[in-house]
Amino acid sequence: MCGIVGYIGYREATPILLTGLKRLEYRGYDSAGLALLEDLPRAVTSNGTETALVTGTRLVIQKCRGKVTELEELSALTPIHSTVGIGHTRWATHGAPSDINSHPHTDQNERLAIIHNGIIENYGQIRDRLAARGHTFRSETDTEVLAHLIGEFYSEERSLTEAVRLALNEVVGAYGIAVVAADDPNEIVCARKGSPLVIGVGNDNEYFVASDAAAIIAHTRQVIYLSDNEMATVSRSGIKTRTISNIEITKNIEVLDMELEAIEKSGFDHFMLKEIHEQPRTITDAMRGRVIEEEGDIVLGGLQNQLRDLRRAKRLILTACGTSFHAGLIGKYMIEQYARIPVEIEYASEFRYRNPIVGDDDVMFGISQSGETADTLAAMREGKRKGARALGIVNVVGSTIARESDGGVYIHAGPEIGVASTKAFTSQLTVLSLLTIMLGRMRHLSVVDGRAMIRELLLIPEKVQRILDDSEQQVKEIAEIFKDATNFLYLGRGYNYPVALEGALKLKEISYIHAEGYPAAEMKHGPIALIDENMPVVIIAPHDEVYEKVLSNIQEVRARKGHVIAIASEGDEKIKELAEQVIYIPRTMSLFTPMLSVVPLQLLSYYMACARGCNVDQPRNLAKSVTVE
Ligand code: AGP
Ligand code: GLU
Repeated sequence: MCGIVGYIGYREATPILLTGLKRLEYRGYDSAGLALLEDLPRAVTSNGTETALVTGTRLVIQKCRGKVTELEELSALTPIHSTVGIGHTRWATHGAPSDINSHPHTDQNERLAIIHNGIIENYGQIRDRLAARGHTFRSETDTEVLAHLIGEFYSEERSLTEAVRLALNEVVGAYGIAVVAADDPNEIVCARKGSPLVIGVGNDNEYFVASDAAAIIAHTRQVIYLSDNEMATVSRSGIKTRTISNIEITKNIEVLDMELEAIEKSGFDHFMLKEIHEQPRTITDAMRGRVIEEEGDIVLGGLQNQLRDLRRAKRLILTACGTSFHAGLIGKYMIEQYARIPVEIEYASEFRYRNPIVGDDDVMFGISQSGETADTLAAMREGKRKGARALGIVNVVGSTIARESDGGVYIHAGPEIGVASTKAFTSQLTVLSLLTIMLGRMRHLSVVDGRAMIRELLLIPEKVQRILDDSEQQVKEIAEIFKDATNFLYLGRGYNYPVALEGALKLKEISYIHAEGYPAAEMKHGPIALIDENMPVVIIAPHDEVYEKVLSNIQEVRARKGHVIAIASEGDEKIKELAEQVIYIPRTMSLFTPMLSVVPLQLLSYYMACARGCNVDQPRNLAKSVTVE
């Protein structure tokens, strides 16, 4: 969920760990901490008079609730000379955010320290067993229980690696962990199951461990990705990898394709705003090299081996969570309309547990920005188990979903740091549009129609740019007007119904205003009861097949004194008479309107959050990638 960084080398560990943690803060951030192996000798004064020299290695823990800057202040009070350490940002699952519950956690004898992302599901049983053997626990976390369990196995005869391995064999759940111990001062032991972990190979015998490459990209591009049930012992002389069932394995070093600039703010106040503004480029990047305009066709390299299955498929199943789910919902509308293949879309968290009917004729797509979402991953595994081809539409290259899929398409949006997903959404829509054209051309779509769609799609980036240029100031002013609202309703129909859901999700996530997205016509079946003079209603009403119907829905809101903010097509004068505020977007084919209509909604949530003084990039309670159930 949150962040892991580790360093072993010849430089001071603290600044490297703190900078790494700041790069990871967006993932989860209710508290932070470090475990450092302090190199002694060190002079200690006892009774204020005698001075003695202590040698060896000491395990030092510094941790607190709050932001990494608070940890930085804490750590500056007691500078520690250390060249080996681990750092963590926590997103609490077991036990409230507090100093005590923050990671790292130590074992009973405080000889080793662990940081952990994920959940140890059977921690209760292990805790009871250890308590009966005299262990006392300081925190409420599942992680501390794992620390104690490793401590139980750790002895003179047994290495830290072996102790970690044995402990992990007793654990049920998900983890990315890193462990250090004062008695084994020249190594970091790490392992993963269900929570990502990457090892960076630096120059001059230095190594890094991280839950996200963003934490180490400033130091190295050479990385090794651990897979589930694998562990590594990282020392200055190299990395030893094995499975947790103790089979030695050799891992390839891969080269990260990521620029440092991509994970910095580049002059914008927030990552989210930067990412909103990147969309003209990221949409273009998602199409790059994939379009054959003349043939009205699309080539998706990662699906070349799946063409037969895709041609034969009787049904597509899309699965995802959150914003990626909304993209998938639009994908369903597109694919069914233009490729005429039945498409089901389901929340991954539901799909994975409800015994869905899946067969050999089904092709499944997991859609995920991070490629690490536990529910999406589990749903795909379930689909695969039942015979479907499992393909990915993923942003993070080398992520678990990307690696476990039978094939797939990268959306190439670059690192998305803001917790509220923006550019990944429009890139997902771009890829789903490409997929629609490709599948359509395999079936009923003519070359002429394919070409017309491609030509229109190629114009989307400049249309998004126009929205950014023309309406940002207006949206900011609208946010000022409505910043004190306590509820919002978002309505849309057809392709823009999922956009209504997405607009509402964005507002909830970062401004903490209660918002609901609805298909516009559903309003009269219930939510209309909520409308009064205090309710702002955002209505997405581009000039498409359902435009006239949406106008009637606007009338219904007006009749009850609701405030209408409309997203409408350029040149639509009629809507001005009905809506208090009109934000115009360029015209395009209906299926592509979501890529345009969502942009003002992203800006609206951004400026609402700013106007309310909320922390845009790190909204409360949220984490960027949800690797727990
Ligand atoms: C989006 O703003 C959210 N933070 C969240 O709903 C997100 O889309 C969801 O958790 C899925 O993440 P993924 O795309 O990385 O799988
Ligand atoms: N389950 C652990 C805890 O609550 C780790 C949570 C995390 O992934 O940060 O402390």
